[in-house]
Amino acid sequence: MKFKSQSVSFIVLSLSVALIHCGGAPSMEAPRESLPMDAEEAPPTNGLGAKVALGVAATVGTFVAGHLAADCLEFFGDIQVWDQTKMTGKCYDEFERILPVGMKFDYSEPRYSLTRGGEFHREWTSEFATANKYDYIFNAVGLSDPPQPGTKHKVLEAGGGNGIFATYLSQKGVKVTGLTLSPEQARVANEKKLEGVEFVVADYRVFNPNWVGQYKAVTALGSSEHVCQSVGSLATLEIDGERHNAAAYRCNAQRIDTWNNFGQYITDDGRIYITMLVVNDEREWSATDWAQALLLNRTYGGYYSKWSDIKNVVIPGLDDLEMDGEEEDLTADYHWGSMSDPRHFGNWKIEGARNWMAHIWDAAKRLPTDPHVFHRLGYHKWRTWMWQFGGETIDPLTADQVKNAPMHLKAFALKKKQR
Ligand SMILES: C[S@@+](CC[C@H](N)C(=O)[O-])C[C@H]1O[C@@H](n2cnc3c(N)ncnc32)[C@H](O)[C@@H]1O
Repeated sequence: MKFKSQSVSFIVLSLSVALIHCGGAPSMEAPRESLPMDAEEAPPTNGLGAKVALGVAATVGTFVAGHLAADCLEFFGDIQVWDQTKMTGKCYDEFERILPVGMKFDYSEPRYSLTRGGEFHREWTSEFATANKYDYIFNAVGLSDPPQPGTKHKVLEAGGGNGIFATYLSQKGVKVTGLTLSPEQARVANEKKLEGVEFVVADYRVFNPNWVGQYKAVTALGSSEHVCQSVGSLATLEIDGERHNAAAYRCNAQRIDTWNNFGQYITDDGRIYITMLVVNDEREWSATDWAQALLLNRTYGGYYSKWSDIKNVVIPGLDDLEMDGEEEDLTADYHWGSMSDPRHFGNWKIEGARNWMAHIWDAAKRLPTDPHVFHRLGYHKWRTWMWQFGGETIDPLTADQVKNAPMHLKAFALKKKQR
C-alpha cells in the first residue's frame, strides 16, 4: 500500500513539476493584472496539449483520491497505512531546511509572565520571553539545586528539536541527551558542538535501560503531540463491553507507557516537565474543528488528546508518578509568541514560507517517499496553524478567547509519588 502510494506520488511529482514550469508557480503576492483576451484571440489548443492536461488532471485526481482513501482507511477503518513515526521525522527535516531563522526560537512557546498567572508582558521580545521560559523550567525541575560535588546535572531532552533548549542548558553546565526523530535536526544540533550535549536520532517511546535513574529531569517541550497516532480517530473499539474512541483509547495507553519510562529515567528527586497542545473539550467542537485537527495530526504524524483524558486517565494511570502542583495554561503565550514575531515558526509571514518556489521544489523532491508534503504545503498555504487558537488575532488573547479556543497549550511537571 505504501509502495503504491509512493509510486503514484512520483508520477504526480513529475507531472506537477512539468505543470508548474508551463503554468507558473502559485504566489502569495497579489496577482498581476491580466490583459483581457477575446475568445477569438485565444491561441488554438493543440491536441497534444489537451492530452497532457487531461493526463495531468487524471493523475492528480487518482493521487488525491488514493490519498483520501488511505486516510479514510486510517481514520474510519482503524487500519494503519502510513508510518507516522517516519512522517514526524520527515516533517521536522523539512522545517529544518525551510525555516529561515534556523529555528532561533523553539517550537513550543515563549513565556510572557514571570510566574504562574503573573502579568502578561506583550512588549517582551521573543528572545527574552524564550529565555524567561527556560529560566522558569530550570527552576521548576530543580536544576538550580547544586549537583553532587564533582558531578553535573543531566537532562534527557525528549523531542529536543535542533537543540535550542540544550544550548541554554549547556551554558548552565548541564549535560544533555537530546532525542529527535529528525536526522536533520540531530545534525544541526550536533554541529553546534555544545559542551556536554549529544543529540541522537531515537524514538523516546522505546525503553532504554541504560538511562534508568540517570537524569535530574526529562523535558518534553512541544513533542508529546507525537507520542501516538491518529489511526482510528473516527472509529470505535469495544473493550469489556464498553465502546471507546479507538485512537483516544490507544493513545492514553501509549502516553502512560511513555511517561512511565520517563519516570524510570529520573532520579528520586527528579522531575518530568511537559508542554503540549491538547483539545479543549470544555468547548463544543464543530465539524471544521475536527477536520482541522485531523489534518494537523496527519501533517505532523501525531494525535491531539483531550485535556480531560490527560488529567483524568493518563496521569492517574501512571505507576509511580503524580503531578507536581497544578498545570498551567500557556495558550495565550503560545499564540502571542507566534503572532508577535514574524520570525517565529507559527507565523506564516516568515520569509521561508513565502518563498513558494523553493518550498515547492523542496517538497517535490521528497514527494516520492513522503506523500504528506502535500498536506503540509496546504497547511502553509491556508495558514491553518492559528485555527487552534481561534484565528490570527493580532492582540494577545483575552481570557474569554482562551476559554473558547479549540486547543490549549498546557504545561505541567510530574514527580515520583511521595510514599
Ligand atoms: C515541535 S518539535 C519541539 C522541539 C523543541 N522541543 C522545541 O520546543 O523547539 C517536536 C520534536 O519532538 C521530536 N519527537 C517527536 N516524537 C518523538 C519521538 N517519539 N521520539 C523522539 N523525538 C520525538 C521531533 O523530532 C521534534 O524534534
